[in-house]
Amino acid sequence: MRVRVPATSANLGPGFDALGLALELYDDVVVRVTDEAGLTVDVAGMGAASVPRNARHLVVKSMRATFKVLGGAPAGLEVVCANRIPHGRGLGSSAAAIVAGVVAARGLVVGGSERMDDAAVLAHAAELEGHPDNVAACVLGGLTIAWNDESGARAIKVPVSDALAPVAFVPGSSSSTKAARKLLPESVPHADAVANAARAALLVEALRSHPDDLLGATEDRLHQPYRAEAMPKTAALVAELRDAGIPAVVSGAGPSVLALTTTDSRDRAVTFARRGWSALPLDVDRKGAHLAPL
Ligand code: HSE
Repeated sequence: MRVRVPATSANLGPGFDALGLALELYDDVVVRVTDEAGLTVDVAGMGAASVPRNARHLVVKSMRATFKVLGGAPAGLEVVCANRIPHGRGLGSSAAAIVAGVVAARGLVVGGSERMDDAAVLAHAAELEGHPDNVAACVLGGLTIAWNDESGARAIKVPVSDALAPVAFVPGSSSSTKAARKLLPESVPHADAVANAARAALLVEALRSHPDDLLGATEDRLHQPYRAEAMPKTAALVAELRDAGIPAVVSGAGPSVLALTTTDSRDRAVTFARRGWSALPLDVDRKGAHLAPL
């Protein structure tokens, strides 16, 4: 079985832990079950030098967590990963690995899709990840709004303009989402919450049909200011792009930057790439995680 999962950019400025956008950059995971007990993990591409080749591999952990829910764990597993999503850059590599594991395990269990629909995949993957914004976009594709209620994580996919043509600016070094979450305060001023609520609501509409409002719609006061000191180069690039009128945000918890450009403004944005950074023009993925032919 082969599963294809997209990169994702979370937050998109004001939509902390809620908004997510899937991008056309994919990890592929091929899983084979074996009658003989055992586990082999083979990884090529991003993270190949560092990820564990054992039960601690994130795809394997996620598969095993899913077999616990659905039953049907096979005796042995062979997992082969072709990774294109850079690790530790705020482009959803961990959400992609988790979702790949859940979707692969569901696909291997008889009746898995009937017993775990996409909404349940999302809730289960969000629990494993700890926050729902990346996994929502990874599962559903496109632009997603995620939230938590008493049943767990939920999300909807909302329309996004065909003109949207983002650019991801990816630095050579990585950072940790866990560390970046520790930089956030327990509470924020009411005025900042008000500003973000308005911007997040506007952003959904701007991404759908008002790209001219994207610069104002991507202002954030809830996370980017608190994390800026820990990632000065990211903050400087966001400021430089925004000063030039380009709607740029920190991608997820950073350190990558996402410019929400359109087909008309993308080429200009790419010229802002600095030394040590790659500028990746990435179209919006509209399909989300799916089983792909072997
Ligand atoms: N919403 C999460 C955060 C995204 O900013 O911590 C992490 O990719």
